[in-house]
Amino acid sequence: MADKEYVHYSIMKDEICSFLAPTEPGQLLVDCTMGEGGHSLEFLNRFPDIRVTGLDADPEIQKKAMRRLAPFGDRVNFVHTYFDEYFEFLPEEDRPDRILIDLGISIFHYEESGRGFSFSREEPLDMRLDTSNPLSAEVLVNEYDEKDLADLIYQYGEERYSRRIAQAIVREREKERITSAFQLAEIVANSVPAAYRHGRIHSATRTFQAIRIEVNNELGRLKSVLRGAVKSLKPGGVIGIITFHSLEDRMVKRYFRDLNRECICPPEQPRCVCGGARVVDLVTRKPAVPTAEEIAENPPSRSSKLRVARRISEFWRDADV
Ligand SMILES: C[S@@+](CC[C@H](N)C(=O)[O-])C[C@H]1O[C@@H](n2cnc3c(N)ncnc32)[C@H](O)[C@@H]1O
Repeated sequence: MADKEYVHYSIMKDEICSFLAPTEPGQLLVDCTMGEGGHSLEFLNRFPDIRVTGLDADPEIQKKAMRRLAPFGDRVNFVHTYFDEYFEFLPEEDRPDRILIDLGISIFHYEESGRGFSFSREEPLDMRLDTSNPLSAEVLVNEYDEKDLADLIYQYGEERYSRRIAQAIVREREKERITSAFQLAEIVANSVPAAYRHGRIHSATRTFQAIRIEVNNELGRLKSVLRGAVKSLKPGGVIGIITFHSLEDRMVKRYFRDLNRECICPPEQPRCVCGGARVVDLVTRKPAVPTAEEIAENPPSRSSKLRVARRISEFWRDADV
């Protein structure tokens, strides 16, 4: 893998290209998480008339996508931004026909970024997608108080040993500052029961996930992008979202489900004030998941889920995320 320029494996390419296939020439896909550009490349190759705008918060990975997609010239354009911020002030003429959100981080981040996303590497503890942000994993681990650490490891990592892990972090950082991913992984491994330490997944997996989610405000940004993205879609436009854990999937599922209801007024409301119409159709009632062949080829894809919805008309009303 080390000598390959593009290391990320794009999930459910066929399913995504089929659900999000353009229906007219010149339609615009906003690839909110372009990464190395794997999904965008598929769209550009398969649909010669499609245009793509690719977003990424990480300028380093975006440079790779720029090199990879350069042969497509002005059919592609690149915006360095967090995806939720992109939709905040989107001009009418840039409203997309298709939106893809492939959440999480890329294999590039684990293997090449040098930012401590992987617990098995002696790398600085950073985990920021955009290193101009002040909150790195090192700052979080050394400065959050014990209760906040325990809570976030519990909530975002769904880690049952969160309190013991937070205690151990605080104890160790009093001796010396925690600065590397490997050092943190050791602290976690030494703080959990032996059976857990030798379990199916590495004992630091959930803690690392939790810290990454907090550092990059992943759930907060997902919440805002859901609103912004569906609101900006053109009538008839389609949005597909790939999630990797239940916290994300639950948010997408609930939001699409509520936008698919005719009325979301509380039962005690004497008459409907929400507009009484559905905003989206559910293209996937149950999420699409990778085939057995894809999982065999790329085992991390086993936890991915794809949900797809279609905006029905210009009618808009919001729902809770
Ligand atoms: C799973 S990778 C996408 C892989 C891509 N679909 C492909 O096939 O190559 C997710 C990408 O989204 C970016 N990302 C994650 N959260 C983001 C956010 N809130 N705003 C913008 N980009 C984000 C990451 O930097 C990463 O490059």
